[in-house]
Amino acid sequence: MPAIVLVGAQWGDEGKGKATDLMGEDVDYVVKFNGGNNAGHTVVIEGEDGQREKYALHLLPSGILTPSVTPIIGNGVVVDLEVLFEELDGLNARGVDTSKLLVSANAHVIAPYNRTLDKVTERFLGARKIGTTGRGIGPTYADKMNRVGIRIQDIFDEGILRQKVEAALAFKNQILVKIYNTRSVEADRVVEELLSYADRLRPMVADTALVLEQALNDDKNVLLEAGQATLLDVDHGTYPFVTSSSATAGGACTGSGIPPTRVSRVIAILKAYTTRVGEGPFPTELDDDNGEFLRKTGAEYGTTTGRPRRCGWLDVVIGRYATRINGVTDFVITKLDVLTGLDTVPICVAYDVDGVRHDEMPVGQSDFHHAKPIYEELPGWWEDISECRTFESLPANAQAYVLRVEELIGARVSAIGVGPGRHEIIERHPLLD
Ligand code: GDP
Ligand code: IMO
Ligand code: MG
Repeated sequence: MPAIVLVGAQWGDEGKGKATDLMGEDVDYVVKFNGGNNAGHTVVIEGEDGQREKYALHLLPSGILTPSVTPIIGNGVVVDLEVLFEELDGLNARGVDTSKLLVSANAHVIAPYNRTLDKVTERFLGARKIGTTGRGIGPTYADKMNRVGIRIQDIFDEGILRQKVEAALAFKNQILVKIYNTRSVEADRVVEELLSYADRLRPMVADTALVLEQALNDDKNVLLEAGQATLLDVDHGTYPFVTSSSATAGGACTGSGIPPTRVSRVIAILKAYTTRVGEGPFPTELDDDNGEFLRKTGAEYGTTTGRPRRCGWLDVVIGRYATRINGVTDFVITKLDVLTGLDTVPICVAYDVDGVRHDEMPVGQSDFHHAKPIYEELPGWWEDISECRTFESLPANAQAYVLRVEELIGARVSAIGVGPGRHEIIERHPLLD
């Protein structure tokens, strides 16, 4: 079987976790290929007694909640080992079997000094800050590119580990002390902390690219689940207000070792409106009662940091861009239920930049900062749609909204989320066949 990639179309928090979990029942492997515990993927499972169980996954792939799935942390991920084991312990305590987890030997480790550097750099930037999650993501990817990173495999060779930590700290301590005026970090303590995870980590470590190649040869279904999203991608996002990894479909290949020729489908998750956490441009952002309506109704507070998410109307210029950059074959529109109860539902179809209409993302970032949304208004609906399970059972105006969005983004809408629960979704076309 070919591999399937699942990405976020906007600035994250589109509902990737829910979509991955939904597909989990039909896939054999779920691979996280980028980012780290900056992600926050919420999965809400309805128990047999009708009770809802909520899981917030940060470092682990959302497929871990499905017993038949082998979850994989790919080489493109940055791993905070303390968080890894905390998250595993948390799931185990709730009865989730995590014993199948595999971790790439080539994934990078978030060393404790990189968590510190992330936070002090943001403080130093002041008004120019990125608004990072403070988890050490940027400094760890910077180390990877600078070729001074620590990899999972280094944890099993004390000599190499010590050499690498000492080399990194020789430089980083100068920055911490001389520029940021904070305390230096002792190499011994870092080495000791990282080594303390070695025994528990060892059985999980594998050549995950090889495991995945064999799985694909054996006709297994492999789902590659992105953290973050298209506009947070370090190449294709709203740089510098991005994360430091490749969150788009291309990143799924480099971050897992699966070649592009084996990917058959790219599913993008698109929230029916737009949210953003952290700093950076956001053309459809609403600072009024409508923004508050979306935040309250959609419960838009960060899964990772608890920060209120910035909210605005759907922007299909971004949707089209996501289609193009990722080669999207199928969209899942989430949170359509949140738009219930509006007289009209605006869709941003283009931008006005200093009097010039832009139907595509402006070439220059400054233009994007100045972009004013041009809206098309569609009639709203008032009926509760959370019980709808077929497209035809949606109110006519909700159907018309989805069809118009589909036309504007240029790829078919295969599923529609109508509530947070695992089964609160309308499947129009199979996501796996
Ligand atoms: P992710 O980072 O892309 O996995 O998304 P998050 O989990 O950070 O944020 C999405 C939020 O929306 C979570 O609280 C989900 O439970 C919730 N959610 C997902 N799909 C739907 C939907 O169709 N309707 C509603 N009301 N909530 C949804
Ligand atoms: P999921 O996977 C939303 C944002 C941060 C900040 C920027 C850089 O849940 O969709 P970082 O800590 O990565 O260096 O921060 O990226 N960010 C996210 N926003 N959802 C996420 O993940 C995010 N991961 C990072 O808020 O603006
Ligand atoms: Mg999230």
